[in-house]
Amino acid sequence: MNKIDCQSASEIVIFGALGDLSRRKLLPALYQLEVCGLINPDSHIVGVARQTHSDDEFKSIVLENLNNFVTEELDKDVVARFIERLVYQQLDMKEANAYKNLATTLASGNSTRVYYFSTPPAIYGAICDGLNHASLITDADRVVMEKPIGHCLASSKVINDQVARFFNEQQIYRIDHYLGKETVLNLLVLRFANSLFTTNWDRDSIDHVQITVAESVGIEGRWGFYDEAGQMRDMIQNHLLQILSLLAMEPPADLSAESIRAEKLKAVKALRPINRTNVKEKTVRGQYSDGFLNGVKVPGYLNEEGANTNSSTETFVAIKAEIENWRWSGVPFYLRTGKRMPTKHSEIVVHFKAQPHNIFKDSYSDLPANKLTIRLQPDEGVELQMMNKIPGIASQMNIQENKLDLSFSDTYQDQRVIDAYERLMLEVLNGNQSLFVSRDEVEAAWTWADSIIDAWQATNEAPKPYAAGSWGPVSSISLIARDDRQWVE
Ligand code: BG6
Repeated sequence: MNKIDCQSASEIVIFGALGDLSRRKLLPALYQLEVCGLINPDSHIVGVARQTHSDDEFKSIVLENLNNFVTEELDKDVVARFIERLVYQQLDMKEANAYKNLATTLASGNSTRVYYFSTPPAIYGAICDGLNHASLITDADRVVMEKPIGHCLASSKVINDQVARFFNEQQIYRIDHYLGKETVLNLLVLRFANSLFTTNWDRDSIDHVQITVAESVGIEGRWGFYDEAGQMRDMIQNHLLQILSLLAMEPPADLSAESIRAEKLKAVKALRPINRTNVKEKTVRGQYSDGFLNGVKVPGYLNEEGANTNSSTETFVAIKAEIENWRWSGVPFYLRTGKRMPTKHSEIVVHFKAQPHNIFKDSYSDLPANKLTIRLQPDEGVELQMMNKIPGIASQMNIQENKLDLSFSDTYQDQRVIDAYERLMLEVLNGNQSLFVSRDEVEAAWTWADSIIDAWQATNEAPKPYAAGSWGPVSSISLIARDDRQWVE
């Protein structure tokens, strides 16, 4: 673990501190950093929200959350230290004049501040105005923004512009929590610390790549929010494109934010546009209907609580993405993500090219190609499928497909699985932007996604139904079968 950096921020201000994200993820993540001694001893954590609470009430709420959401047993001494840092500030975040109260709470000299916007993006601009009004912004301060950054390219520009009036790009940390996942970070190591993959990572060796991010949950409790977004905006525009860009980017010169983000950006910009002319051939949208999950009947999207029964929002997307550059020309990246799929399961499968000639025809007529599977979650690990001789005396060479399996839980048994928000919080405190998304990346991702959404709207086709608990609409199978390939189940 990193040592505390003396530059690390000492005031952490969470706007929306009583919201779901803050209670489930941010405060437990900060507690874990406290366990590891990674928070500056002088730091305070200021929770900001609309409701009226005393500091003590806020401390009790946080304690209850830690009990609920930290999976390990809490350490009493650490909890005491952590709780001691907490301060509460009631605030109408849209009222610039009210920020003078926050200024009084924060009047602690020249410490660096981290402002974490865990609120709807629609009020990011108002928060910035309020902070500025109360002279609470210096060049050393940092701001963390949660997704979604906008609903489309134009609205993302509005939000980014509102924040950019007061914070420069080096001060802005845009979260995509997938970038904080250990297995996603490991993509950098896998690709750039292993010559085997560094040298075979292109169109000469790879046939195609599949990226699946499946969730078994439905939309319970946030139907209205989700219905405005759909799976394209909720998952593809951010998480799946981030995974794709880490897989497809050119080797960065080093691990700096500038190098990594510049290469990821080039990969997203090289995506072949999908528009009204090719959308039917390249994409499938689906929506789950009533079905069964683990033997239990679950309602379809339109029968969820609070649903508008006319909605044509997609809960599943499959895309054949193509990257138009020297490395990837002719190598499709098939993306697939959906709600209410049979299980929570995210993985990348890299299919290598088949051997050009088979000398084992007698025992194996159709040699399968090697496959590299990167299990993102759960059961994190890396698996290489390869051919092996079956030991034993026989007149012919008996061979079979087998795998080298690096399971993280077996290999690193005494390591706790770190939540993405712990990693990301630490990087913000240490001022390292490499795991955060640049404005250019957000805009390039929206440009590509908007064109697909526009094409869907123009065709006006309803999403294809799929039963909850299945792997998506049948047409997603045809999407890949048309290329003589199939999804790995
Ligand atoms: C969020 C999406 O960004 O990611 C949710 O808004 C989704 O709809 C979640 O459920 C998935 O994250 P994870 O870490 O559980 O894979």
